[in-house]
Amino acid sequence: MHSSNGWDHIVPIDNIDRSLFEEFTCGVAQFDTWLLRESRTAVARGQCQVHVCIDNTCLPVAFFTLSSTAINSDDLSGSSRGGIHGQIPATLLGKLGVRSDLTGRGLGTRVLHHAMQFALDASMKVSSRLLVVDALNDGLVSWYTERGFIQLPSGGLRLVCKMSKIRNICNRMGANYFTV
Ligand SMILES: CC(C)(COP(=O)(O)OP(=O)(O)OC[C@H]1O[C@@H](n2cnc3c(N)ncnc32)[C@H](O)[C@@H]1OP(=O)(O)O)[C@@H](O)C(=O)NCCC(=O)NCCS
Repeated sequence: MHSSNGWDHIVPIDNIDRSLFEEFTCGVAQFDTWLLRESRTAVARGQCQVHVCIDNTCLPVAFFTLSSTAINSDDLSGSSRGGIHGQIPATLLGKLGVRSDLTGRGLGTRVLHHAMQFALDASMKVSSRLLVVDALNDGLVSWYTERGFIQLPSGGLRLVCKMSKIRNICNRMGANYFTV
């Protein structure tokens, strides 16, 4: 039993017993191994925060990571740059994954929206102009562009979404959407 989001809570990875990740797979072995073996060290070192969506039995159904980053203005389009020259403060959505037996029913999109909401909330305290993501492959580039991101002018797998656009996306969803 879980909320309409597909999970009951979003918690920091340190709140969950490591053994609960032994069965978790998002279908990308590199992510699964990282979650099990490296994620807690990454958190302890301040490399990223790992947020885990759990059901009411504490089983992980999805996860995402966020950290601070910066992008050189030369790499961005005029609109993403917004008149800033040099390093632009941004937030990195480093990894995102959904338990592979639960994909294809909108969960990934909802996880992305919640990651956007987390990044937006954080940007009220520590300013960030953009949410940045590095898609794993070309197919996922379209997955992100269909959800508000744009590719950098150089092409490739890096995409950005302005925090102002994220605010609009989150406002459109409404506050109830983010109440688990
Ligand atoms: C990518 C991922 C988060 C999508 O989760 P999901 O719950 O299936 O997402 P949604 O149900 O919201 O979206 C489903 C859509 O995404 C598409 N999609 C899913 N995985 C995809 C992939 N690897 N490449 C291209 N499209 C993909 C589906 O075809 C579907 O398209 P449709 O709506 O046109 O039918 C999930 O498959 C996953 O965790 N993958 C492994 C980790 C990963 O690749 N993370 C992204 C890192 S950049």
